[in-house]
Amino acid sequence: MPWVILTDDGEIAGRLTLSGIVRGPFQSCSMGYWLAEDQTGKGLATEAVRAAVIFAFTKLELHRVQAETLIENVASRSVLAKTGFEQYGLAPRYLKIAGSWKDHLVFQRLNDSVR
Ligand SMILES: CC(C)(COP(=O)(O)OP(=O)(O)OC[C@H]1O[C@@H](n2cnc3c(N)ncnc32)[C@H](O)[C@@H]1OP(=O)(O)O)[C@@H](O)C(=O)NCCC(=O)NCCS
Repeated sequence: MPWVILTDDGEIAGRLTLSGIVRGPFQSCSMGYWLAEDQTGKGLATEAVRAAVIFAFTKLELHRVQAETLIENVASRSVLAKTGFEQYGLAPRYLKIAGSWKDHLVFQRLNDSVR
């Protein structure tokens, strides 16, 4: 489920996608997001993640949203902390980024605490 993230002026600032939506006993999805470099630091990703999580738990009726970050991605970790995600592990060589398999921190947000 793809979205664009807009500025207050309606310009496209980035993208957020909920993918891998799995039903059955899992009721879970994965979330990914990015912003144009000149749109970072304004809280846009935090606002977009909040909206996507509410959508996932209310409209999609999912139980869980997961997200991953590179260990050094301080900004993304901060977005997830501010939106109620908890880190539950470290996945070795999880995604191929710029040609090499990188370790990632793995986070989840469960729908028992919509904020
Ligand atoms: C990660 C990303 C989505 C964050 O979006 P954002 O709208 O800038 O997030 P916020 O404005 O809410 O800022 C998040 C926090 O990170 C801090 N921050 C921003 N850039 C930073 C940097 N380069 N280094 C350290 N901290 C940084 C902000 O000051 C803010 O701190 P606070 O929570 O204490 O206020 C954006 O930087 C981005 O698109 N990065 C490239 C793609 C990417 O990493 N996507 C996520 C993959 S997991």
